[in-house]
Amino acid sequence: MPRAALTRRVTFAAAHRYGRPEWSDAKNHEVFGASANPKYHGHGYACEVTVRGEVDRVTGMVIDLALLDRVLDEEVRARFDHRNINEEVPEFADGALVPTGENLARVIGERVQSALGARVEVSRVIVREDDTLWAEWTP
Ligand code: NI
Repeated sequence: MPRAALTRRVTFAAAHRYGRPEWSDAKNHEVFGASANPKYHGHGYACEVTVRGEVDRVTGMVIDLALLDRVLDEEVRARFDHRNINEEVPEFADGALVPTGENLARVIGERVQSALGARVEVSRVIVREDDTLWAEWTP
């Protein structure tokens, strides 16, 4: 059975800040720079999710595209769009994961994989903060 990869791009706007609550303000600024600003800042994110699997002989698809879009709506847009990531997404609460692109890509990849089940592999997630900075996760 031929295999292929399919990528969908979704966008969301969100606020975040970087910091470790166990560190001083000075150390947070030393490590994270302006990203440690306590008043938060925002990005217009773009998230690209790639799924890989067998191409169905009848439909010609590796996944039901409506299913993929529904999962991305639930796991990416509903959870992150117009949110304060630190305050509204539990994985990124103070003391948990720092909401870097690297961590966002991994959490999104794992949640999308869990929602899709074994029918396809989430083979890559890219989270772009802007045109100059992005992170890539692969399982
Ligand atoms: Ni930022």
